[in-house]
Amino acid sequence: KRILILNGPNLNLLGRREPEIYGSQTFEDYFETLKPLFPEAELTYFQSNHEGAILDKLHEVGFSWDGIVLNAGAYTHTSIAIGDAISGIKTPVIEVHISNVHAREPYRHHSYISAKAAGILVGLGLKGYELAVRALLA
Ligand code: DQA
Repeated sequence: KRILILNGPNLNLLGRREPEIYGSQTFEDYFETLKPLFPEAELTYFQSNHEGAILDKLHEVGFSWDGIVLNAGAYTHTSIAIGDAISGIKTPVIEVHISNVHAREPYRHHSYISAKAAGILVGLGLKGYELAVRALLA
């Protein structure tokens, strides 16, 4: 099964960015520990700071791959276009947030993705990505 992990803006800074909120591990390092947990799956990681590139990637994989784990970063709270893309594709999307967005600023409480997602994992740290992949493969 083919699974895409899709990270949005500023998530390339994981490990260096606000480590008290997001931890001190880079996503590249975490991804190396994640892959061997799922030898039966083909895991691919893509990150972009550009909304259009995220849309293009959703369109590219969203009719043939088996699952998408999406952390759209701050676009979660602003992007009607990403919400529309999820409605438009066939592949199930699980929304992940490393931090508990509901315990943070009110502008992080609304997501344009949640209503379109197959499921949501929030506030579980990087472990949320593993649990999302597990759910997509189950
Ligand atoms: C985030 C939460 C968002 O509110 C924030 O803009 C991010 C990261 C998370 O993983 O906790 O960039 O999606």
